[in-house]
Amino acid sequence: MLSSDYSKRLFGRTRGRSKKKFDLKKYHQTVNKYKFQKFDKKLDYILDIGTGYGETSIFLAKHFSDKIIISCEKYIDGNIILLKKIEKHKINNIRLHNGNVYDVLESTNKKYFELVWIFFPDPWPKNRHAKRRLITSDFLLKIHRLLKQDSKIYIATDSSIYIRFILNSIYNCKDFFTWLNQSEMNLHIKDYFDIETKYYKKAINSQRKPSLFILRKL
Ligand SMILES: C[S@@+](CC[C@H](N)C(=O)[O-])C[C@H]1O[C@@H](n2cnc3c(N)ncnc32)[C@H](O)[C@@H]1O
Repeated sequence: MLSSDYSKRLFGRTRGRSKKKFDLKKYHQTVNKYKFQKFDKKLDYILDIGTGYGETSIFLAKHFSDKIIISCEKYIDGNIILLKKIEKHKINNIRLHNGNVYDVLESTNKKYFELVWIFFPDPWPKNRHAKRRLITSDFLLKIHRLLKQDSKIYIATDSSIYIRFILNSIYNCKDFFTWLNQSEMNLHIKDYFDIETKYYKKAINSQRKPSLFILRKL
């Protein structure tokens, strides 16, 4: 069903371009094994939004083995890869939400998250598509109410248009978040993490420098 709120709609691909057949029933059976069901107040959570091929979720699961990583992604080809990696590395702290992050954000009012990662959200560079962009001040505020005190949001992008848009969103939320790395000239991801996602590599191959924003809840 389409959301009546435009900003909550999902755009972009659910399947890749490959014509390779795959077993949808088997896919859903595997998704069900790792599916995010509901929050448990005894556990600590990290939210990974738009996980693509799952590199960030695997990275987070290994670095924060005592926390539960909720991976949100509706791109089936990406989720298939993520599920394979989960099984291969016997990872037991990833829960997949095969859909829109808004479903997770709107399923609770409690402060469950210690960390939120948003790596290379779709920039929708054309003006006429600007309303599709995920990061807005409303979206940051929606996350804010579910963050524990001092928790952080990491946002990476290589799109100059999106950087301006994100800066504006951060400015509009200045009473709610501190932008931790704003005084650093160098915002490059590799100064913080040794991780390469598909869209990170795409940026580097096209000689675009990815930037990282680190926000802390006030
Ligand atoms: C450009 S890709 C980046 C993938 C990955 N993070 C990376 O760095 O390679 C953005 C992903 O965000 C997903 N996405 C966009 N809006 C979303 C939403 N509202 N909920 C969950 N995933 C979303 C898209 O399906 C897409 O796979």
